[in-house]
Amino acid sequence: MILIIGLLGHAGAYAEQPLKLEAREGYYQFPFFDTRTPVWSYNDQIPGPLIRGRVGTTMVVDFANRLKEPSSIHWHGLRIENAMDGVPGVTQDPVGPGENFRYRLKLEDAGTFWYHPHFNSSEQLERGLKGVFIVEEAEKQPWSQDWVWLMDDWLLQKDGTIYPQFNTGRDLMHDGRWGNAPTINGNFRPVFQAKPGERIRLRLINGANARIFSPHIEGLSANIIAVDGKPVTKFFALDRFVLSPGNRIDLDIRIPKQAGGKIFAVEDRFTRKAFELASIKVDQSDPVKSPKFSPPTEANFIPAQMFEKVKVEKTWDLNAIRGGKFGIGWTMNQKLWPDSDKVDYPLGLPRKIIFKNSSSRLHPMHIHGVFFRVLERNRIKAIEQFTRDTVLVGPRESVTIGFVPEHPGIWLTHCHIQEHAEAGMMTTIEIKN
Ligand code: C2O
Ligand code: CU
Repeated sequence: MILIIGLLGHAGAYAEQPLKLEAREGYYQFPFFDTRTPVWSYNDQIPGPLIRGRVGTTMVVDFANRLKEPSSIHWHGLRIENAMDGVPGVTQDPVGPGENFRYRLKLEDAGTFWYHPHFNSSEQLERGLKGVFIVEEAEKQPWSQDWVWLMDDWLLQKDGTIYPQFNTGRDLMHDGRWGNAPTINGNFRPVFQAKPGERIRLRLINGANARIFSPHIEGLSANIIAVDGKPVTKFFALDRFVLSPGNRIDLDIRIPKQAGGKIFAVEDRFTRKAFELASIKVDQSDPVKSPKFSPPTEANFIPAQMFEKVKVEKTWDLNAIRGGKFGIGWTMNQKLWPDSDKVDYPLGLPRKIIFKNSSSRLHPMHIHGVFFRVLERNRIKAIEQFTRDTVLVGPRESVTIGFVPEHPGIWLTHCHIQEHAEAGMMTTIEIKN
C-alpha cells in the first residue's frame, strides 16, 4: 500500500507544513520470503511515500539523510528551480550522513513524476530509495479511481537479501542490473479491485534501475493520455508502449459494464517471455455510472515545423570504453563524467540533438529540466505527438530530439540505466539566461 502523506494547501502555508523525507536503513517484508529484507527507504516505506501536491502551490520537503553515505533527492521530471534539482556536484553539495537539506518545489505542471537519489544511484535506488510525486490538476478530475503503480525490479538472493555487488562487470557490459523480482508498489502480482463501468486513471512509473517494461492489458481498452507527466496531443492505444527506466505514462482505462466477475491480466511484454505484473479484478456488482469527460490534452506543443530548418547542434555518440572507475566506462562522445562533452545554450532558440547509439546495448537517455520531442529515428521522420524527458535509444539506433531551452540552469543529461550513468554516461546541458 502507498500512503498519502502530503496534500498541501496553497503557497504560503508551506513554511508551517514541510514534508519530511528521511532516508534510512530498515527492513521490508517481501511477500515471497519468510525473513525481512534489509533495505534503504524513505520514512520506512517501500516504495517511498506517495507525495501529492496541487499545481501552482509550493511544497517544502525536508530531506534528512540518515544513511551512512551521502545522498540527495532528485525530482524526476518536475520543472523546478535548478538549485532544487538534487544533483550533487552540479546543483548542490551532497547531503552527508546526518545532514539535512530543504527542497522548495514550485509545482508548475500537473502530472505524474517521481523522486530518487542522485548519488551512488545504482546502489541507492536498488536498495529501495524512490517514490512517486503526483501534481494534481487545478480542477478535480472525475476519475472513478486514480491508481499509482510504481514498477520496480529487484535482484534478490535466495536468502531474501539484495544481491550486494553493484556495478558488476556483467551489469556494465550489458543493459545494467536486471532483477529477478518485478514488483508493483513493492508487491508481487498485486490484484486491484474495480467495478463494472468504472473509468480509472492508471499511472505507471518505471522506477527500476535498468529493466524496461512494455505493459499490455489483455482484453481492456486503455488509452495513453499523458507521457512523462505531460498530457499528449491526441490519445492513443497503450499497445506495448516502451516504458524505460524513468518513463511514466497515464492511462485511461474503461471497465466495461458487462465485465463483472472478470479478471484482466496486466503483463509485461518487453522480453520474449511475457509475465504477469498485476491483475485487475472486477466485482460482481451492478455497474456504476461511467464518468463522461475528456482528460486534458496539451495545447502548447512546440510545433514540429519549428525544427525543420534547425541544424543538428550536437550529436552524442554513445559507446563503451575500457577504463573509468569500474574498468568499463560508458561514454558520450568518448568522454566520461565528470570530464564530459558538455553544451551550453541561450534561452529561447530551438535546438536539435542526436543521441547516436554506437553500441549494442540499450540507453534510455534522460534530460533534466527539459521536455523534448522525438523528431527522427535513424534519420527518418518519426514525430511523436507528445513530449518526453526520457527516450530509449536502441542498439545502433539514432534518435533526433528537438526542444526549446526554457529553464535556466545546469541540467544533467544521462542514461537512466543507473549502472551506465555511474560508469560515466552523464553530461550537462547548461541553459543560460
Ligand atoms: Cu530520474 Cu537524473 O534522473
Ligand atoms: Cu545506457
